[in-house]
Amino acid sequence: GSAEKGEFRHFMLKEIYEQPRVMQAVLEGRIASGHLLEQAYGSEAGAIFDQVKQVQIVACGTSYHAGMVAKYWIEELVGIPCMVEVASEFRYRPVVLPEGTLLLTLSQSGETADTLAALREVKDRVLATLAICNVPGSSLVRESDLSLMTNAGPEIGVASTKAFTSQLVALMLTTIALGRRHGLDTEKEFELIAALQQLPALLEQLLELDGPIEEMSAHFAEKHHALFLGRNSLYPVAMEGALKLKEISYIHAEAYPAGELKHGPLALVDKDMPVIAVAPRNGMLDKLKANLQEVRARGGELFVFAGCEESIQPQEGIHVIYLPAMPPVLDPIAFTLPLQLLSYHVAVLKGTDVDQPRNLAKSVTVE
Ligand code: AGP
Repeated sequence: GSAEKGEFRHFMLKEIYEQPRVMQAVLEGRIASGHLLEQAYGSEAGAIFDQVKQVQIVACGTSYHAGMVAKYWIEELVGIPCMVEVASEFRYRPVVLPEGTLLLTLSQSGETADTLAALREVKDRVLATLAICNVPGSSLVRESDLSLMTNAGPEIGVASTKAFTSQLVALMLTTIALGRRHGLDTEKEFELIAALQQLPALLEQLLELDGPIEEMSAHFAEKHHALFLGRNSLYPVAMEGALKLKEISYIHAEAYPAGELKHGPLALVDKDMPVIAVAPRNGMLDKLKANLQEVRARGGELFVFAGCEESIQPQEGIHVIYLPAMPPVLDPIAFTLPLQLLSYHVAVLKGTDVDQPRNLAKSVTVE
């Protein structure tokens, strides 16, 4: 059954390995002839999407990181404002919600107390509410106008993995749904959908990096701190990588947008502070490489997940793992998987309780 580990040592590893199938499941029934079927959100969806002028995303933890990725996508591909905030802050301040606001909540469980409270707090002051959620019939889904299920199946490990990547796919579909009203042409829609359809095969390929990543994990077992760097939509991916490492290996980890390095965190960098960087093939690569030079010059050991071979070469103090070529829009999803594996293997080496880390609950249903 779905709540058994089978051949896997931990639920977390099983859930990481389920991701190619989960990518299939979240797309299933949402696409016809290369086109998004927006009825998947509910019968009112079309009429509501027509009126959306901006998006306010509210979530906690890993789901919040998915929301941060969506901000990059929505502002780039739809061209409307998108705000993202953690639910525990949003619910307790007098928020400004301009006319035409779609409140988008993200939650694996659909029962997170702060996210639910945020929804209840503002639902009468927004155009409509949309929940992207993994649990059908959860409170969040029942209380929202529209919903899209992520179809990831039960997630047992406290550290969220497949729920996050499936949320990202659901968010890209939502970007397309909104984009149609704001000049995203049919050709671009086809291109994005075609990219999403490559995900199952791409994630299978990424799982083949498990061996090299396990080897890499040995460098972290004795460390007390780690810094994660990313730029653009991979900044939230770096945040998610840092959260995973904190949660299950108890190593203190922070994520920074690489451009912020000079504004403070560079002072922390020395040989005991490993730096993990996500380096996709894009226009920001040269900037990121300059940031990595700064780290190297301070004796910081670098662990780079790179999107192309010509970009970064391994050398003394620079470990590189290359990802397969992929359409750039998939970067946040693809770069997540190796970071999940890295934190998993570090936790196993440290002998922590991977599926049930200390002090944490799978879903935070009380404040
Ligand atoms: C993720 O690894 C965490 N365990 C946690 O941050 C989680 O994402 C958060 O509590 C939100 O949960 P939800 O998606 O069920 O609302």
